[in-house]
Amino acid sequence: MAFISVRDLTLEFTKYDEEGRAESSNKALDTISLDIEKGSFTAVVGMNGSGKSTLAKCLNGLLLPTEGSVNVDGMDTSDDSHIWDIRSKVGMVFQNPDNQIVSSIVEDDVAFGPENLGIEPAEICRRVDDALRKVGMYEKKDKPAHMLSGGQKQRIAIAGAVAMRPDCIIFDEPTAMLDPSGRGKVMEIIKELNAEGITCILITHFMEEAAESDRIIALKDGRIASDSSPIDLFSDARLIEELGLELPPAIELRERLGMDKCVSNIEDMADEIRGRAQQGRNSFSE
Ligand SMILES: Nc1ncnc2c1ncn2[C@@H]1O[C@H](COP(=O)(O)OP(=O)(O)OP(=O)(O)O)[C@@H](O)[C@H]1O
Ligand SMILES: [Mg+2]
Repeated sequence: MAFISVRDLTLEFTKYDEEGRAESSNKALDTISLDIEKGSFTAVVGMNGSGKSTLAKCLNGLLLPTEGSVNVDGMDTSDDSHIWDIRSKVGMVFQNPDNQIVSSIVEDDVAFGPENLGIEPAEICRRVDDALRKVGMYEKKDKPAHMLSGGQKQRIAIAGAVAMRPDCIIFDEPTAMLDPSGRGKVMEIIKELNAEGITCILITHFMEEAAESDRIIALKDGRIASDSSPIDLFSDARLIEELGLELPPAIELRERLGMDKCVSNIEDMADEIRGRAQQGRNSFSE
């Protein structure tokens, strides 16, 4: 059975007037079905308001389905008795690093989650040190969190999620507020966590980040508009335009240079361009 199993999930936000009467409602998610396998790396993309964050919150029980079901490791998120178990199995990292820091000192912040799980102090210390090493922030463990850069704060937020020892982490636009160097480090950490077996779900507006995943789910108006490998999605220019997405810069360059479709990342492209340049030099010197 899949680690996360979503069946016909519909999530409707209802607006009420002052007398408590339903005034209007909006289907943020509309009959979504999908499975997330353990150890996979899935990207979720789509235009603003397409339902990405709402889906993320449904996957760890922060929001409950209006219709349909979400099961995590066999537990229904609508069953109250499982909610803490589900939240400890599926961690979340959000966009704004400032909103996620709860303690003034780095190590206390990372310890916050495990403390709430009632874990014994010695084990908490081990987990905090281990999580801080994973995100390359161990040296900052006794520093005030507010002194850190946005990218460093986001790495602390990731350490906080990692310290809960979750099976899965959902990243909701974790790099949106970071500079390119901060973004790169966060992406490296996500890939490392996935390589260590943590199931990763990455919501992003950056297509070059989505291209790093095994699978991209594209949402449009609360529905799944596409569910495929990055290569298949980025080879379909019509669909990309219809979904309001952009091609990752590497793929855009590939298209303009008329390169083979299997060239899909910066490294392969650099090799291909180097090869072509070499060929050009050889034919010039002949
Ligand atoms: N708490 C809420 N109350 C009412 N409507 C909401 C609420 N949260 C989201 N919505 C609506 O649900 C729809 C989906 O929103 P959601 O935040 O999931 O989109 P998103 O794809 O994450 O967008 P973005 O890229 O801007 O983060 C939008 O129409 C939004 O206005
Ligand atoms: Mg969102």
